[in-house]
Amino acid sequence: MQILENISLRQYNTFRIDASARYFSSFRDINELVYGLDKNPGMNRMILGGGSNILFTRDVDGIVLKNEIMGIEEVKEDENYVYIRAGAGENWHRFVQYCIRHNWGGLENLSLIPGTVGAAPIQNIGAYGVELREVFNSLNAYHLHDKKIHYFTAGDCDFGYRQSVFKKQYKGQCVILNVTFRLRKNPVLNTSYGAILQELERMQVKEPNIQSVAQAVINIRSSKLPDPAVIGNAGSFFKNPEVSRTAFTSLQEAYPAIPHYPAKRYPAGDGGNTDNFVKLAAGWLIEQCGWKGFRRGDAGVHDKQALVLVNHGKATGKEIYDLSEEILQSVYQKFGVKLEREVNIM
Ligand code: FAD
Ligand code: EPU
Repeated sequence: MQILENISLRQYNTFRIDASARYFSSFRDINELVYGLDKNPGMNRMILGGGSNILFTRDVDGIVLKNEIMGIEEVKEDENYVYIRAGAGENWHRFVQYCIRHNWGGLENLSLIPGTVGAAPIQNIGAYGVELREVFNSLNAYHLHDKKIHYFTAGDCDFGYRQSVFKKQYKGQCVILNVTFRLRKNPVLNTSYGAILQELERMQVKEPNIQSVAQAVINIRSSKLPDPAVIGNAGSFFKNPEVSRTAFTSLQEAYPAIPHYPAKRYPAGDGGNTDNFVKLAAGWLIEQCGWKGFRRGDAGVHDKQALVLVNHGKATGKEIYDLSEEILQSVYQKFGVKLEREVNIM
């Protein structure tokens, strides 16, 4: 295992920010991880997956350890489900495609999300009506403090909307090594998200299956989200905010067209009684403030999806962050709604 010095992180983050790391290494198993950690005691340590949910605003004065733990295996099966364990360094979309090829259902709506398997539980990734927690069984993570491997069930992870214990009390303390998924042997399709049915119709699919639902999701995503290989970005920069029903009623009086959704219920009660809350579309709020397609230097707002901030080439992390702060302030001034960043700021 090689430890490199003064490495540019540009190729390791989808925002294509040219920050550097004092030390950089990748690990393919727990022994290499422990070696990298022990070799540099007392130094800042950062675990990196695909770098698709990170904004580097400064150089990393420490060691960046890139997770490359691979492997996919069937752990067990019962009458209805198959349990598949994947190494944390596996590419998420390739893993989804592998499961689809085996006709194991549950991941198809989560197609084409960039990044690694190991990062997926951190923010409980979600798209097109499905969240990771619905197919999650368990994970193993190495704890940096007691240096032991801990087993987490879904309950232990306390999943919420773009939320888990790994963004709260265990932030920066656990390295996820592998994740086990519970997938259906007889897939049940979820086409409740409006655009999926429309897209299946456009594709002239009469009898949808997980392959065609995955393709519909891929088509929709490709039509609105910028491809990081072409233009730097980290997906939605902010979360969709939840507001009280009272605040929502006033907003709806002033802006009758305001898109809104019921707030989702989570088993662990994240967010309390959801009946009293309404979810808004941050992209709509940002667009209404006139930011869609905005560009200053190389930092900008995507012209098809205002929730996505972009790097047109040489923007610094600080320029993107400063733009996000201006957006946040303007949405707050116009609507009284405080946006929260989804992207991890480093
Ligand atoms: P990274 O960016 O490398 O890391 C994210 C955070 O997790 C960092 O804090 C890092 O330190 C930590 N981390 C990473 N791996 C580990 C590990 N093994 N153990 C412990 N900590 C770790 N997200 C969605 O939820 N839904 C979407 O629809 C979606 N669409 C996107 C579209 C685009 C075009 C892009 C660029 C991003 C999108 N995202 C979406 C965000 C992103 O893809 C996910 O959050 C993804 O799970 C991040 O994975 P990653 O491996 O790139 O994580
Ligand atoms: N909208 C606008 N203007 C915009 C963008 C969106 O008016 O510029 C409106 C749309 O018209 C629609 C609503 O906002 O009424 C929602 O838009 P969309 O369906 O594109 O989804 P989103 O809420 O912007 C969320 C997730 C995405 C996920 C999609 C699909 C968050 C923060 N984002 O986006 O996740 O892929 O739904 O399920 O929850 C990510 O987390 O990085 C991400 C891309």
